[in-house]
Amino acid sequence: MIQTHQLSVHYPNTEALALSDVTLSFSKGEFVCVLGKSGAGKSTLIRCLNGLQQPTSGKVLVNEKSLSDLSGAELREVRRSSGMIFQHFNLIPRLSVMQNVLTGSFGYRSSLKNLTGVFSKQEISQARGILKEVGLLDFEKRKVEKLSGGQKQRVGIARALMQDPSVLLGDEPVASLDPGTADQIFQLITRMHASLGLLTIINVHDVQLARQYADRIIALKDGQVVFDGEPDQFTQKEYDLTYA
Ligand SMILES: Nc1ncnc2c1ncn2[C@@H]1O[C@H](COP(=O)(O)OP(=O)(O)OP(=O)(O)O)[C@@H](O)[C@H]1O
Ligand SMILES: [Mg+2]
Repeated sequence: MIQTHQLSVHYPNTEALALSDVTLSFSKGEFVCVLGKSGAGKSTLIRCLNGLQQPTSGKVLVNEKSLSDLSGAELREVRRSSGMIFQHFNLIPRLSVMQNVLTGSFGYRSSLKNLTGVFSKQEISQARGILKEVGLLDFEKRKVEKLSGGQKQRVGIARALMQDPSVLLGDEPVASLDPGTADQIFQLITRMHASLGLLTIINVHDVQLARQYADRIIALKDGQVVFDGEPDQFTQKEYDLTYA
């Protein structure tokens, strides 16, 4: 579904490569957690996978097509098919829960329609259905700024699902939440992952969460893959190697 071939990223005015020769293959249905200490390249990898970051060399293939060869409608289609959730939620605080979720459908609408902010009955009922799934049905009129962190991330997940994605990407989506709430969010992601048959790739600092929820762990160190395997195989030795 997604492949990277010898992917490298070199940011301007830096010495080391942020990603170095990363070759990976991801399939539909996999729940992958990416581990690695700060600066290991986790965010850079995730951003390459949905075309937010251009590789310096190598390539990213989505459904066998290189992202760098795509433009216009094809690129929009790839972007639309990957929903993204973020550590700081990236919501619009002064808008309601419903309005935030509806922005997830922007990729399917004309720019003019998006400017008017008018949504169809069908879009609103789809958003309601998703809000129910994420446990926020009674919150649709509430302003996002009045929600707790866990609730905000539920809105973030709902917005991503509104894109009707085949891939769910997360850049440390639970790093700002307390451990209990983080666990609940992982449970929700796991449920959505399974019911929608997604490919899910989540960056996470918490090794326990990765071991508990992922069916594949990838560990990065200094921009390179130092582990790629089943959670059970990520033992103390691999931990020490990754976090040394
Ligand atoms: N926009 C940028 N310009 C220059 N260097 C960058 C930029 N973004 C990231 N880097 C560098 O690239 C390397 C990888 O960064 P990245 O953000 O991908 O790591 P990370 O694993 O996500 O870290 P964290 O856990 O702190 O989020 C780091 O050395 C970082 O300083
Ligand atoms: Mg990061």
